[in-house]
Amino acid sequence: MDSRLSATARAHPNIALIKYWGNRDEALRLPANASISFNLSGLETITSVAFEPRLTADSLEIDGLPAQGAAAERVVRHLDHIRALSGQRARARVVSRSNFPAGTGIASSASAFAALTVAACAACGLSLPEDHLSRIARLGSGSAARSIPDGFVALETGARDEQAFAHSLAAHTHWDLVDCIALVSREPKSVGSSEGHRRAATSPLQLARVEDAPRRLEACRRAIQEKDLLTLGEVVEQDCLLMHSVMMTSRPSLLYWLPVTVHILHQVREWRSHGLAAACTIDAGPNVHCLCEAASLEQVVSGLSHIPGVGEVIVCHPAPGATRIS
Ligand code: PMV
Repeated sequence: MDSRLSATARAHPNIALIKYWGNRDEALRLPANASISFNLSGLETITSVAFEPRLTADSLEIDGLPAQGAAAERVVRHLDHIRALSGQRARARVVSRSNFPAGTGIASSASAFAALTVAACAACGLSLPEDHLSRIARLGSGSAARSIPDGFVALETGARDEQAFAHSLAAHTHWDLVDCIALVSREPKSVGSSEGHRRAATSPLQLARVEDAPRRLEACRRAIQEKDLLTLGEVVEQDCLLMHSVMMTSRPSLLYWLPVTVHILHQVREWRSHGLAAACTIDAGPNVHCLCEAASLEQVVSGLSHIPGVGEVIVCHPAPGATRIS
């Protein structure tokens, strides 16, 4: 294999503190509102891309299996975009592996498209600045744009492709905010987020959620800067409940929560009333992300582990952005 035409990259998924839900432009995945997240250590996708002139079609292996159907088409479209940018015409061999379950509300598409973007661009010989890599990753999956920069990250929105890229608000070393993910299901969700984004505008609540987003974004930015978990927790929970209210009131309605999801929300409120600093957020799935600081980590993990229905608690600290590793 010609090493000049191949590259491997690593990317972490991220958890959104202020959620992106709905697109103002579906084809370009221009988000309806800006969002903020942090990258998650320990969870990662590693992707190798090799452009091989002898291949007649892209060959895609994801988590040990050949990719098929809509998932494969999405990856091929992404590669086509990078081929068009670089002038590379060869088909690619892509091997991608994540060390966590896909499609369960731990943004696997974020790390997948971030790693694919960095590896494919490098394999094509494209040397692009971070904001451009982030824009390309966004075309594969909106949240993937946020897995490109380091640590705590904001994805801006705008009316044009050039305006919607992510940038780092603070390095991963800035604040040891911990995400304890209570896994209550490993089942892939029945309605993926691409379809969910399409439904967002059918909820009468989406407009109010989007209009109030600048206030929540500002509060979140400041809380990160000041490492203020109390303020952060308040705005993060409100933002998550706004997104799930939109999901539930979309047509057709989307209900990602399981009974145990609600049970965890009650438990964390109860712990908080007894002085434990922790807050919850939930992506497009039933698993609950419980945020805390290192000082209360043991208590949070032990509390979550004892809730019937919680299978495993995954602990993630802030992580760097996507990088080429070979
Ligand atoms: O990147 P997508 O299309 O999987 O959308 C992500 C949507 C949420 O995870 C629910 C929210 C977010 O901002 O990450």
